[in-house]
Amino acid sequence: MTRAVRELVATPGRSGSAGLVSERALFEARERVARFIGASDSSRVVFTLNATAALNLAITGLLNEGDHVVTTSMDHNSVARPLARAADRIDVEVDRVAADSDGQITADQVVDRITPRTSLIVCTHASNVTGGIQPVEDICSRVRVMSGKRPLVLVDAAQSAGVLPIDVENMGIDLLAVPGHKSLYGPQGTGFLYISPGVDLVPLVEGGTGGQSTLERQPEELPDRYESGTPNMPGIVALGEAVSYLSHRGVEDIRAHESHLLEILIEGLSGIKGTVLFGPCDPSRQIGVLSFYLEGMDPAEVGSFLEGSRGIVVRMGLHCSPHSHRTIGTYPEGTVRVSPGIFNTEDDVIALIEAVRDLQGARGVS
Ligand SMILES: Cc1ncc(COP(=O)(O)O)c(C=O)c1O
Repeated sequence: MTRAVRELVATPGRSGSAGLVSERALFEARERVARFIGASDSSRVVFTLNATAALNLAITGLLNEGDHVVTTSMDHNSVARPLARAADRIDVEVDRVAADSDGQITADQVVDRITPRTSLIVCTHASNVTGGIQPVEDICSRVRVMSGKRPLVLVDAAQSAGVLPIDVENMGIDLLAVPGHKSLYGPQGTGFLYISPGVDLVPLVEGGTGGQSTLERQPEELPDRYESGTPNMPGIVALGEAVSYLSHRGVEDIRAHESHLLEILIEGLSGIKGTVLFGPCDPSRQIGVLSFYLEGMDPAEVGSFLEGSRGIVVRMGLHCSPHSHRTIGTYPEGTVRVSPGIFNTEDDVIALIEAVRDLQGARGVS
């Protein structure tokens, strides 16, 4: 990233040889990201500011007046809010599949809601509240074999990219929204949208693309169609490096590490009196995300105890996902969410378990 700041002084495709150097670096990052998600054509990877921008481009760029959309009660506000706006502005009908009390949906529930007007299915790959893995592969394969006009499937991989294997072509994913800064370990302010061949979205931003400047209108070619203006080169180059690191380490290895830490967490926390765990509570059915609360204690207070006394940082509250909390019965207080990653160790998660045990002891709950 620092090399990019020092050396990539020109906008890609502009300003002679310096522009060419930037163009190559941008292309290389795009190729690495495309390989990582199993996309054979890297031009179909469009860099964005974050997962929210990718989701907005997919949702707003695709929907037309009167369309029907199927989504789930475990989806994030970055999905729910653009859909609510589409409902208000262009009369889109949003059908929200209700997950069970563990936050899980089935492919049948989604497929059963499809009507001739359904143009889009939006589903999170793994919940940011419970960590529960949703059956997106099953949904995609069921939709792919539909005869006639079928809906497109947009997968929100904000929590899964980097921890679950994703191959957009083998899994039949039409649109994949990914942030750079979560489990891809890239910098904040990066992300991308994968757009499968044959899918056209109305661009949200139009302008200079470096080439085809005689055209009055936005070019048709990807990625230019969706990438106007100067890109975040330090961020994108760093994202490319991050993805290379993950590729060398291997997503299977990362998944195994996080599952192991999660197993220790589930066992340790569930043995502490007054501690309630949410979601599947099964590492084979969830990623390294676990929500819990302590009976009679505001999650915000638990979080400030953990940080203030032990230096353990967790996320408290609604996690920008109020529908998910309504589903698991924790609205409006929310939960405490802990999410071990690749650089966490067994000692880290044991320290968290001990901190919660000490807190309960100090409260007289033991
Ligand atoms: C499931 C899910 N979707 C979307 C987002 C939005 O991601 P970003 O912050 O990159 O816009 C998040 C972030 O927390 C998330 O967890």
